[in-house]
Amino acid sequence: MKIGLGSDHGGFSHKEGIKKHLELNGFEVVDYGCFSEESVDYNGYALDVANAVASKKVDKGILVCGTGIGMSIQANKVNGVRAALVHDLFTAEATRLHNNSNVLAMGGRVISLELALKIVDIWVNTEFSNEDRHNRRINRITESEEQ
Ligand code: RB5
Repeated sequence: MKIGLGSDHGGFSHKEGIKKHLELNGFEVVDYGCFSEESVDYNGYALDVANAVASKKVDKGILVCGTGIGMSIQANKVNGVRAALVHDLFTAEATRLHNNSNVLAMGGRVISLELALKIVDIWVNTEFSNEDRHNRRINRITESEEQ
């Protein structure tokens, strides 16, 4: 699985830890930045990862900013992207099972790197349930993008 990573300064150190963790576990990682703790806008990084997911250059994306909120709002503006803001293990699994989320957003100032790595492990390893009711709801999201 190929995973696109992005962060701003608020998520930089978590992004670096997630990158190392994923590579150690055999995932291919494309790092879209940022590359230091210098203050930057999260928008471009979120859009680069979201567009890579939407165009299938990568299979999934992971975004980290201070809260995860700016990143998730921005990523969800891209058609085909379902970005989930996750800070606990239950929603990490639920958003894969129910929403087939293709981008994971987290806040580097909200949770520890240790918890973020547990969330990443669950999120990348949980398959979409493919149940009719969840497909129907996701299709309605997709239809709303086309309007
Ligand atoms: C940056 O200070 C912070 O606003 C950003 O990382 C993020 O939390 C925005 O939603």
